[in-house]
Amino acid sequence: MNVGVIGAGYVGLTTGVCLAEIGHKVICVDNDKDKLDKLNRLEVPIFEPGIEELLERNFKEGRLKFSDDIGEAVKFSEIIFICVNTPPKEGGFADLKYVEKVARDIASSLEEDYKVIVDKSTVPVKTAEKVKETIIKYSNKNVKFDVVSNPEFLKEGSAIHDTMYPDRIVIGVESERAKEKMLELYKPIINRSEVPVKIVSVRSAELIKHGANTFLSLKISFANLIAEVCDAVKADAKEVLEAIGLDSRIGSQFLNPGIGFGGSCFPKDILAFKKTLEILGIDCSLVESIEKINERSWRRFLQRIEKELWVLDGKVIGVLGLSFKPNTDDIRNSPPLKIIEVLLNNRAKIKAYDPKAMDKTKKIFPNIEYCSDPYAVAKDAEALLICTDWDEFKHIDLKKIKELMLIPIIFDGRNVFERKLVKSLGFKYFSVGR
Ligand code: NAD
Ligand code: UGA
Repeated sequence: MNVGVIGAGYVGLTTGVCLAEIGHKVICVDNDKDKLDKLNRLEVPIFEPGIEELLERNFKEGRLKFSDDIGEAVKFSEIIFICVNTPPKEGGFADLKYVEKVARDIASSLEEDYKVIVDKSTVPVKTAEKVKETIIKYSNKNVKFDVVSNPEFLKEGSAIHDTMYPDRIVIGVESERAKEKMLELYKPIINRSEVPVKIVSVRSAELIKHGANTFLSLKISFANLIAEVCDAVKADAKEVLEAIGLDSRIGSQFLNPGIGFGGSCFPKDILAFKKTLEILGIDCSLVESIEKINERSWRRFLQRIEKELWVLDGKVIGVLGLSFKPNTDDIRNSPPLKIIEVLLNNRAKIKAYDPKAMDKTKKIFPNIEYCSDPYAVAKDAEALLICTDWDEFKHIDLKKIKELMLIPIIFDGRNVFERKLVKSLGFKYFSVGR
């Protein structure tokens, strides 16, 4: 099938290369010229494992191209995906101006042949209805189209795998014709691993996405609450949460305590969901509690550091990990950056290393010392913070780290190390809830 993807960011680019990989012909459109130039040179503007190979193959084999022209993609495609960003606006509601702009641009290019317009961006319930109204309003001709909601559940760092082998595909659709088109599009993925497909109403599909992200962030905040209790009574959150997670009704994933969740998704999506509840007059204290615990998680970590180091002014603090989670260069709403900001405000000297996120962080904190590896960070440091659970950090030579540090203290914000091992090597060691 011929497919258009508008917005070539984490979601759009992944969607584009994966749809090309399963045999469709795809035009990816973006209005960021730098991004397009890079993509046309086969340079991937983000770090996402596996994406480069798929981009190169499908581009060279003619199934994937990039453009700045929505009109070209609309004319070419049977199905057009909207994958633009939906950031929070002041007050927390999702800012839908990029979605609206794309809907208007699609409208002005529509002709008489039938199109399926798919909203893949994460949006509040009833957005698809607005997209439909917008397209009708801004198109002159007698256009034939359906608007479908097909939320995306990929995780950064495993985006390609999550797209090729999803837990489920959700299609919110009101017409049989659009449903058949969507099933045809996803057929190779559905058949490959018998993926459950949920055909639901458009409003339900939109709510499934906000509901899923709210529930996942609830699990993380629950884990952080248990960690807080464990710190207070000197119990071990790892033991407690592992056993809780063994109940198959609960499940062990997303129960790792730490310095809280970040990224471009959970924080903004639960905020948008909270706004939806407020507008509907439904009590939103559950969502508020998730946010409060999340904020407390990184602040508690900082308090520990301040308590132990006493005066921060002039102290050399090493930071391992800048991205909001491992296997990505994404630093949007990254808890490590919030921690660094407070430490800098207290005039600590920061040395930092991250396998992929240093270039992006340099734009925010140009004046901290960026190091080539964890050992350079540890040299002469008076404390070492583990802020992202990259595999690389799990395998560092702690004996060497201890020799390099001025004072051997580790604050492990992601519970990366075995407590007994680190202590046996002579470190003072603080982790979360243990
Ligand atoms: P992103 O910022 O990485 O990408 C969005 C892209 O859209 C950018 O490249 C931007 O230049 C482009 N764009 C904006 N307006 C445009 C326009 N008028 N015409 C052409 N291009 C335009 O965002 P993302 O992380 O890919 O997220 C996109 C959506 O998907 C959001 O709603 C997000 O919540 C949702 N989502 C994200 C993830 C994730 O892991 N990043 C996962 C699931 C869902
Ligand atoms: C999340 C969801 O997992 C995806 O399903 C969803 O599609 C996406 O948001 C979205 O809607 O955009 P992502 O933000 O890429 O994906 O990252 P996650 O792996 O979910 O991690 C989010 C944050 O939670 C990270 O900061 C991570 O460190 C933290 N986390 C995760 C914990 O603190 N504890 C855990 O147990 C799990």
